[in-house]
Amino acid sequence: MSCECKGPTPRWSTLASKPASSVIRDLLKLAARPEVISFAGGLPSPEGFPVEAVAKACQEVLATQGKQALQYSMVEGEMILREQIAKRETMKGIPTTADQVYIVSGSQQALDLLARVFLDPGDKVLVESPTYMGALQAFDLVGPRYVELNCDEKGLNPAAFGEECRNAKFAYVMPTAANPTGLTIDEDRRALLAQKAREYDMWLVEDDPYGELWYEVEPPKSLRYWAPERTIRLGTLSKILAPGFRLGYVIAPADVLDKFASMKQAIDLCTAAFTQRVAGQTFSDDVLVEHLPNVRARYAKHAHAMLDALAEFMPEGVTWTNPIGGMFIWVTLPEHMNATTLMQDVLAQNVAYVPGEPFYANKPEVNHFRLSFVTVDPEVIREGVRRLASVIKAHI
Ligand SMILES: Cc1ncc(COP(=O)(O)O)c(C=O)c1O
Repeated sequence: MSCECKGPTPRWSTLASKPASSVIRDLLKLAARPEVISFAGGLPSPEGFPVEAVAKACQEVLATQGKQALQYSMVEGEMILREQIAKRETMKGIPTTADQVYIVSGSQQALDLLARVFLDPGDKVLVESPTYMGALQAFDLVGPRYVELNCDEKGLNPAAFGEECRNAKFAYVMPTAANPTGLTIDEDRRALLAQKAREYDMWLVEDDPYGELWYEVEPPKSLRYWAPERTIRLGTLSKILAPGFRLGYVIAPADVLDKFASMKQAIDLCTAAFTQRVAGQTFSDDVLVEHLPNVRARYAKHAHAMLDALAEFMPEGVTWTNPIGGMFIWVTLPEHMNATTLMQDVLAQNVAYVPGEPFYANKPEVNHFRLSFVTVDPEVIREGVRRLASVIKAHI
């Protein structure tokens, strides 16, 4: 029975007592109104979810391995899925065995495990600027000290890295179609990043949820290829299959995986065996062979619709990134403008984006916002960008 009455104030932990950043949360609540053309979401498009193939895989799993599927799993994960993930990594040119792959409950859990396994309060963590806000939220569990890495219009710029990298616990990097910028680091920069990692003795955390969602051009090899001995690679099924599975994975040297496993055991014992086996079955049924090209084509179409609309409607002085894959475009307004305060007027036109502020670890730059395009129809994207551009024009 739920209690509607107000009880005494609980004795919160220090972490829970921190005030939540309410301005952006309130704005995003308004963005959820049905009449709003929302470029604020970060969800994959449900249009292409392979519902029938998953239903078939569920039946197959229950019929052939029902008892194991309904049992607890091993903390490392179910072998069928680990093998399939290892096979995909190997296909991408980086030989990987199933015992190098541990399953987690979404890659967000891996970010939480990183905080628990690597960080003490005040420890140095290197991040891109801007970076994924969900990673900052996970690392904030421990209260690290963030150092923002040098980035330019091509993303992370390792040529400029220096002593600030020394003694960091790790550098958290999204090399491909990053959230929020959509930028992809080229091959030369990846190789140089590996070199710098060795020079400054830093571990690399490669978060790669969007690496398989390229449009026309395949991205360069993963960071793990360049520095396997010091890369912790995070992947997820959320964007290549569906986030409802809540399945992600970590590929890393054995001692890191062991620490992750003992920490994970204390959190949730294991990830659900059932979803792992169903996902493993969909992989074995070759569902991705057809499904992934469809997702790539759909996302490319939406990205082009948004890029065309931006080129058509945005006034001079506004710039944006040109992603080769993924779900996001990062827009930069003239420096005197503030995307958080502008959002009120944008919402009044029934359009929404995510203001850039929460994506910064230290000092937010306020003249940016993130656009997400995969859940909005191409014709609607054009209308949304037209309205957005007219508000920006009025403010410029
Ligand atoms: C960069 C990045 N990392 C991690 C995640 C978490 O993904 P999941 O927990 O669904 O695997 C997301 C989700 O949007 C993301 O954008």
